[in-house]
Amino acid sequence: MATTEKAVPLTQLSAWKALTSHYGQIKDVQLRTLFADDSGRGERLAVDALGIYLDYSKNRITDETLKLLFKLADESDLRGRIDAMFRGEKINITENRAVLHVALRAPKDATILVDGKNVVPEVHEVLDRMSAFADRVRSGAWLGHTSKRIKNVVNIGIGGSDLGPVMAYEALRHYSQRDMVFRFVSNVDGTDFAEATIDLDPEETLFIISSKTFTTLETMTNAHTAREWSLKKLGDEKAIAKHFVAVSTNAAEVSKFGIDTANMFGFWDWVGGRYSMDSAIGLSTMIAVGPENFRKLLAGFHEMDEHFRTAPFEKNLPVLMGLLSVWYNDFFDAQTVAVLPYDQYLKRFPAYLQQLTMESNGKHVTLSGDHVDYETGPIFWGEPGTNGQHSFYQLIHQGTKLIPCDFIGFGKTLNPLGDHHDLLMANVFAQGEALAFGKTAEQVKAEGTPNWLVPHRVFEGNRPSNTILIEILTPEVLGKLVALYEHSVFTQGAIWQIDSFDQWGVELGKVLAKNIITELEGKIVGKHDSSTSTLIDEYKKLRG
Ligand code: F6P
Repeated sequence: MATTEKAVPLTQLSAWKALTSHYGQIKDVQLRTLFADDSGRGERLAVDALGIYLDYSKNRITDETLKLLFKLADESDLRGRIDAMFRGEKINITENRAVLHVALRAPKDATILVDGKNVVPEVHEVLDRMSAFADRVRSGAWLGHTSKRIKNVVNIGIGGSDLGPVMAYEALRHYSQRDMVFRFVSNVDGTDFAEATIDLDPEETLFIISSKTFTTLETMTNAHTAREWSLKKLGDEKAIAKHFVAVSTNAAEVSKFGIDTANMFGFWDWVGGRYSMDSAIGLSTMIAVGPENFRKLLAGFHEMDEHFRTAPFEKNLPVLMGLLSVWYNDFFDAQTVAVLPYDQYLKRFPAYLQQLTMESNGKHVTLSGDHVDYETGPIFWGEPGTNGQHSFYQLIHQGTKLIPCDFIGFGKTLNPLGDHHDLLMANVFAQGEALAFGKTAEQVKAEGTPNWLVPHRVFEGNRPSNTILIEILTPEVLGKLVALYEHSVFTQGAIWQIDSFDQWGVELGKVLAKNIITELEGKIVGKHDSSTSTLIDEYKKLRG
């Protein structure tokens, strides 16, 4: 399907219709039964690829479900859509842009064309400049205006220009330069900047202003505040060159701000914000973990790209995860997906995935502009285990909502301490087991539970989950994990026939906020609904 051609509506595809009737047959089938009937299910419904072991056997599926989901992928021309992305076609049709985050991690000798031009050499040129700069900062060769060594790096950005860098920094902290401090400022709430810089010395602080557009209100406000904060101590405008670098696609705005474009690291309009952590937006990550580790991260991304592009769908990790997500979202009416990494270093991974998944697939019209008559992107959320077990897991186990879960666990820990790691991993396995198989009333009674208490202690089970097992968290592994979810999102978007690469839904709020700012400055009197007007008046009273 060419992107602008009108596709056969999803619900008219024969695989979709077959899945609808298949759902009727399978909806009450219990995982207990599926496992009892097939002793090899656990090993059979698993894929081991690129060092990632995905056990998807605890899903409410049969071989027939899988057959129909793969048929749906074929009828949706998933293969053609994947190829179109890798070929650099402008599959982001509403912005008329190619979608080529895969080019950011392509090896030097690869060729990926955008409008007839190979973009890979430029990607590597920027990477080389980033590496040289990161090495200078890390080694102390890059000095501040007063010849002091840079000890603190503060990334200022928001959305994709923040979440990727902060997630990657936290995830790879083990590999980071420990005598440096890394902070991330995103919120326009002044508290974010104030707290991030409260104990820093401007003479030792480098700001990375990360913004694809270099016009984002929050980032520009924080960038100006950072400039004032620096100049207050450093005095001299010339200091900016030593303490500010920019990452952007917008050279004109960068120089308008006062950053020399020699200190700018560029990227391209074919990199979506939420797909940009492996572009120059990753500069803070590179300074933290070093260029070598950053390249390992890219190599991990690339391995997953190649797997997604070439592996048969039956063995293709992102395709399998994407199709399973469609299955629950559209047939079981599951509203959310919980991502539960059992690794403290991945504490920001769910937050990162929220932008990746929800900004990509939170769409209500198809590529041809028709309102969808099926559900699109689910809500992604999560927290690291075991913490979540002591807060929201109750609802997943015994609530009335079906919440498919992705558990992520590692064979080895980066911080071996007594038996902590076995205790952690025992919980991964126990949670998946409890969700799938539950505890029947008979089992509860057999424990001597009084009759009145039995219903409260029953676990119905039949709650689906994927379990991802990996040896140890490394930069390569992080790259593979992020690319796994990126391509799972792509798979879902292709099935739903939506543009997963635009984000028009964030615009209206920005425009309205701009108007209200002028009102708060007393420049105009705005016209709103009675609720908004009253709220603005109340705010004015409170602010005094
Ligand atoms: O408003 C949403 C958004 O455009 C995201 O898509 C993007 O990641 C974020 O804002 C930040 O944009 P920029 O990098 O241009 O500052």
